[in-house]
Amino acid sequence: MAAANPMQAIRIIREEHQSLAAVLHGLLYLVREIRKHQLRPDFELLGAMVYYIDTFPERLHHPKEDAWLFRLLRLRHPPAHTLLDRLESEHRSGAARLKQMEQALVRFQQGGRGEFAVFAASVEAFVLAERNHMRSEETEVLPLAQKYLTASDWAEIDAAFLDNNDPLLGHAAREDFRALFRRIVNLAPPPIGVGPAHA
Ligand SMILES: [Fe+2]
Ligand SMILES: [Fe+2]
Repeated sequence: MAAANPMQAIRIIREEHQSLAAVLHGLLYLVREIRKHQLRPDFELLGAMVYYIDTFPERLHHPKEDAWLFRLLRLRHPPAHTLLDRLESEHRSGAARLKQMEQALVRFQQGGRGEFAVFAASVEAFVLAERNHMRSEETEVLPLAQKYLTASDWAEIDAAFLDNNDPLLGHAAREDFRALFRRIVNLAPPPIGVGPAHA
């Protein structure tokens, strides 16, 4: 049976992208501040951001897209194969980039300033790739999904996406992630957060 309110997954995917985008923005912001002002890095915050990406987008968000949204769109609209092949391969390369970023963070924390450049480059590469990836999903995949998926496809996809709440969002948000999100919001300039605006 179709859900009473179909295509909820579209809203959830956009919200999950926004919360990942906020964390990516926060990471990039911290890296630039460290570079510009030679600040002592806040390793606890950097670690919490990387941990969030590993815990939610990496383990739940992208795999759900592969297993539900992309799989059903392949069935209903075969010309989307090339696009979906690319996005699935970005899920794999994103996982590899995340591992590199995690390792670079550990080396930076343990090895000191000399390891910063590699960590900064790994953050910049990861952020760029994830932003482009999310943009393709929102501007290319979601419109095709709205056009070609059936009501029963949406019932399956909605159920899958409603099942795992982003720990940064909603009532089920974990306290440690809530604290992380408050810190990110305080760091980020408008419109993401309430921190000071930067030129
Ligand atoms: Fe994705
Ligand atoms: Fe996504």
